[in-house]
Amino acid sequence: MPEFIEMKKIDKGRASTVGTVVKVEHLKKFFAVRKGIFSREVHFVHAVDDVSFEIKRGGVLALVGESGCGKTTTGKTLVRLYEPTGGKIEFLNKDISKLRTNADRMWFHRKSQIIFQDPYESLNPRMTIFDIVVEPMSVQGIGNIKEREEAVADILQRVGIAPPETFMWRYPHELSGGQRQRVAIARALILKPEFVVADEPTSMLDVSIRTQVMKLMLDLINEMDMSFLYITHDLSVARYMADHIAVLYLGKIVEMGEIEEVLQHPLHPYTQALISAVPVPDPEFQREMPKIKGGVSKPIDPPDRCRFYERCPYAMEVCKGTCPPLIDVGNDHKVACYLYNKNG
Ligand SMILES: Nc1ncnc2c1ncn2[C@@H]1O[C@H](COP(=O)(O)OP(=O)(O)O)[C@@H](O)[C@H]1O
Ligand SMILES: [Mg+2]
Repeated sequence: MPEFIEMKKIDKGRASTVGTVVKVEHLKKFFAVRKGIFSREVHFVHAVDDVSFEIKRGGVLALVGESGCGKTTTGKTLVRLYEPTGGKIEFLNKDISKLRTNADRMWFHRKSQIIFQDPYESLNPRMTIFDIVVEPMSVQGIGNIKEREEAVADILQRVGIAPPETFMWRYPHELSGGQRQRVAIARALILKPEFVVADEPTSMLDVSIRTQVMKLMLDLINEMDMSFLYITHDLSVARYMADHIAVLYLGKIVEMGEIEEVLQHPLHPYTQALISAVPVPDPEFQREMPKIKGGVSKPIDPPDRCRFYERCPYAMEVCKGTCPPLIDVGNDHKVACYLYNKNG
């Protein structure tokens, strides 16, 4: 393991219990766009394009990639804030790609939650902390006033917003960024969901409090036996939080597997480049990693070829032909690259 990721390694034995909570098959989410205001031509941004993965009970899957790679769209589609364009999402063995009845919707939204990146935008400034945190209970019609107050006080205490009796009646502007994100976590967890999408939940926080909030989330994940999709562009955060990792590039998973395996033996040139972009404290340390050129483009009507083709230092003729499939190279490690799959 290169020293690039210094954060303390912690016990991740929790995902050992068998049982799949989320299973995604060939998920697609396209957005229709026009190239100019007067243009009639409709094009499609392939934000998520044929993505498949599973999250086990108690497991944390880190979804990583640069900005614009489709992480947020994947997360929002999973909790059904977006209608999928194609593919299937199974949650607790139930197909939730189409939530047909109100009862189905209520069931799914009781058991799944999302925590957003920006705690300044995600909390309604006109609502008290109590109203914000209790909302999922009232939407679901759970508990009477007294039970709701107790539940809010309990969860606020648990996320370190104490004393809850005084904080409950305050407004978001009276809280710091870290406290607001703890409130967002409390709201997400008040119904003890089985599955949570966390979309870069600490990236807007001061560096000094990021680790505290991550530690809190890990403790809660272990305690409540939840499954998480943890979105981050930061590999050290991924390593701290997750047991598995999926690397996303322009809507496609390019590499996936157990996190230590992938970080120690990155195969895809994109994963290798992400790792090489993490600053190393030791100036003597030399990494043999490719430098990639350019930046993330928008996958508008992308041709059927490797999405990484333009930026790849190893691009070959075959990479222009069709998009490489994700293949298993052993050790539960998958990669989508013709360097390892020359026959297609
Ligand atoms: N509502 C939308 N309409 C059109 N394009 C979108 C929309 N949301 C996201 N996109 C595009 O989809 C791609 C993926 O975006 P996003 O999921 O936000 O990536 P990430 O979270 O990895 O930064 C980007 O090219 C983005 O511009
Ligand atoms: Mg995002």
